Amino acid sequence: MPISRLFIVSLILFGPASVQASPAPERPGQAAIASPHPLATQAGEEVLRAGGNAFDAAVAVSAALAVVEPYGSGLGGGGFFLLHRAEDGHEVMVDARETAPAAARRDMFVDEQGERIPGLSLDTVLAAGIPGLPAALVHLSREYGRLPLGTVLAPAIRYAEDGFEVYSRLLTGLERKRAELAASPASAEVFFPAGDLPELGSRLRQHDLARTLRRLAEQGHDGFYAGPVAEALVAAVQAEGGLWTLEDLAGYRIVERAPIVSRYRGARIVSAPPPSSGGVVLATMLNILEGYDLQALPADAATHLVIEAMRRGYRDRALYLGDPDFVDVPVARLIHPMYAAGLRAAIRTDRAMPSDHLPGLGAREDGPQTTHFSIIDGDGNRAAVTQTLNFWFGSGIMAAGTGVLLNNEMDDFSARPGLPDGFGLVTGEGNAIAPGKRMLSSMTPTFVETPDGVAVLGTPGGSRIISMVLLGVLARVDEQASAGEMVARRRFHHQYLPDRVVHEPDALEAAVVEALRARGHELEETRRDYGNLKVVTWDYGENRVEAATDPRGERGEALVY
Ligand code: DON
Repeated sequence: MPISRLFIVSLILFGPASVQASPAPERPGQAAIASPHPLATQAGEEVLRAGGNAFDAAVAVSAALAVVEPYGSGLGGGGFFLLHRAEDGHEVMVDARETAPAAARRDMFVDEQGERIPGLSLDTVLAAGIPGLPAALVHLSREYGRLPLGTVLAPAIRYAEDGFEVYSRLLTGLERKRAELAASPASAEVFFPAGDLPELGSRLRQHDLARTLRRLAEQGHDGFYAGPVAEALVAAVQAEGGLWTLEDLAGYRIVERAPIVSRYRGARIVSAPPPSSGGVVLATMLNILEGYDLQALPADAATHLVIEAMRRGYRDRALYLGDPDFVDVPVARLIHPMYAAGLRAAIRTDRAMPSDHLPGLGAREDGPQTTHFSIIDGDGNRAAVTQTLNFWFGSGIMAAGTGVLLNNEMDDFSARPGLPDGFGLVTGEGNAIAPGKRMLSSMTPTFVETPDGVAVLGTPGGSRIISMVLLGVLARVDEQASAGEMVARRRFHHQYLPDRVVHEPDALEAAVVEALRARGHELEETRRDYGNLKVVTWDYGENRVEAATDPRGERGEALVY
């Protein structure tokens, strides 16, 4: 197990809130932030202290992560921002997913035999979708924030300009992506300033990125999607034979989408709609599990049922999901309790159902990139944000003069229906590449509302994101787990194909493993723990907020103040 450090900082600004008799106090009075890097959490805190709300803080944390976690997300990538506004209960997901450029073609990543051309959708400029994150920052600030964009971007600009300390996870990422980063002169200049890996603890400065952030702060949307930044991005992509045009960038728009809302044992679950598969798959799995009393069952029986629910939820992902602006996704049917009842009826308690016995499609390991943070402010506004470049540092290619790393999100499309992506996930026609289309995602920012309070959660982890969020929701609803207990929970996962349960070391007791094998499940222990769950909670009983970051993350920082 990796040695992990969990930084917990607790500052009480308004003093502990008084105990309330009412089950749902009007406002928490305190704020909580859980993010994967202390500087990002501090950026959020700085903005809250300056009078900002959770949405201002979300912009600050998001932009800070783009600087201090360049392997996980960035201005050259995208993300999903799930928001809850306390004053009127308005709930929305700001979809800042990347789009395929207009010249993209469905078969651009396969050869004449329909076989994947190795690396093309991962390490080249063709791998990059048109970025969405900068548009989301501007939109969130303008529509939901209280403070000027310049104020909320100030911490990120400072971190880029003044630098931050190189930490071990960053070094790991740099090592893993060394060849690709070294091949891009702009990336090499930033990440290997002395010609080699930087020293642990040395300062990493990103002057070009600071300038790009400043342009965004000063000019808003057009500071990135038009003018010198857009021109530099397009020039860099085209110089390498890529497809981006100025029109692609000028045409990029975020989309505000209604979240997926479902119920599980008295709890209200609010999560990401398509083009994320997260909310739909989560709802299907919870609907299936609603029919059982998991707490009353022996561990092996309960685990078996959760695995069978995962298998069916992920099967539907492969079969039905894609960008709803391009394909008809039967969301209402998929999240309907009656549909889940049908799926449940075919689950045997004594046997694993082989995935190829389910009507469906005929799927590898994920990495620890992408990033998530969760915020609740003193008024009860909430933000759950998952953002990404896809794999480590995206494509590794940086557009000269911008500090912007290009994502490799195009790999999340189906290169050909049935061909597994970098996460071993198989998708169908619905997720085929088309100009302007958004690639299907697993990112699952989620709110869980029970009669006792609210939890805001999410995690990176590729295909395992949805099953991690499921286990978090089950812990919260079935066992009233605290934020700390939710993030610490051991994990297992099934994604339909490959037809195999993967689980963290020690996640399942030996007797449970044996009982699952006896039912016909194939089990495989992961080499190491996975995921980086970030949870903030507001418990009504004591009117208390709590923040927790995954002990598996190196430098997560949870802050309550
Ligand atoms: O959107 C998605 O589902 C993926 N691009 C997320 C990638 C990810 O979580 C990588 N981390 N392990």
